[in-house]
Amino acid sequence: MYEELKKAKLPVHVAIIMDGNGRWASARKRPRLAGHNAGMKAMTEIVRAASDMGIKYLTVYAFSTENWKRSVEEVGGIFDLLVKYVAKELQELKDNNVRVRVLGDYSVIPEAARKSLELTLAETEANTGMQFNIALNYGSRAEIVRAVNALIREREESGFRAQITEEMISKHLYTGRENGNIPDPDLIIRTSGEERISNFLLWQCAYSEFAFTDTLWPDFTPEMLKDIILEYGKRDRRFGGRK
Ligand code: FPP
Repeated sequence: MYEELKKAKLPVHVAIIMDGNGRWASARKRPRLAGHNAGMKAMTEIVRAASDMGIKYLTVYAFSTENWKRSVEEVGGIFDLLVKYVAKELQELKDNNVRVRVLGDYSVIPEAARKSLELTLAETEANTGMQFNIALNYGSRAEIVRAVNALIREREESGFRAQITEEMISKHLYTGRENGNIPDPDLIIRTSGEERISNFLLWQCAYSEFAFTDTLWPDFTPEMLKDIILEYGKRDRRFGGRK
C-alpha cells in the first residue's frame, strides 16, 4: 500500500491536530463521546500506518491545557478512552517496536489514565522504532514558560552566566532532553477545516510545513496521510535560505 512512498521524501516528524470529533458526532446526532471514540479508532489506524510508512516521530494533540473547560463528562470520557486505548493497543505497539512518550504535565490527569500511561511508557521504553508522542494536558505557551523557569533555576544553582541560546530553550521544552530531543516537526496536519495552531508546538513549528484538510478527524484515513506526505515531498523547503 505504501509502495509510492518508497521514492518520496518522507518527513521525519509528523504532528497532527486531531480536530472535528465533536462535529462528526453531531452530524450523526450522537453524543460527543461517540466522536472521540471514533477519533481514537482513527488515531489507532494512523499510528499503525505511520510506523509502517517509516515515519520516525508521530505526535498527536490529544488533550490541551484548554480542554479542561469542557464538561466533566466529556473530559472524563476522553481519559477513559485513553485507558481503553492502552488496554487494547499496548501489545500491538510493543509488537511494532513503537516507543510512546508524553508531552505535557500528565501528573494531574485522572489516576486510572495516569497509571495506564505510566505502564505504556515503561513497557515501550526500550523500543527503537517509531516514537509516538501523545500531547496531553499540553499547551505550548505553558511549555515555554516552564522551560524559561527551568533555565532561571539552573542559572541560579550553577552560577552560570552565559547567554541563553535557542538550543538551551529547545532542550528544556517537553520535546527536549526529557523526551529524547525530538526533532522539530517537518509537517503539521490539522483536520476539520480549521486553519490555526491552537497553542501547539509554537516554538517547534518555526519551519514546519502545514497541511489542512476538511476531513473530520474520525474520517481521516492512512490513505489521506499518504497523499499528504506525497504532496509534502514535492514542497521546496528553504528554511529562510535562497537555494
Ligand atoms: C478535537 O475534536 C479532539 C479532541 C479534543 C480530543 C482528541 C481525542 C481523541 C482523538 C481520542 C482520545 C485518544 C486519546 C489517546 C486520549 P473536537 O472535540 O474539538 O471536535 P469539534 O471541534 O468538532 O467539536
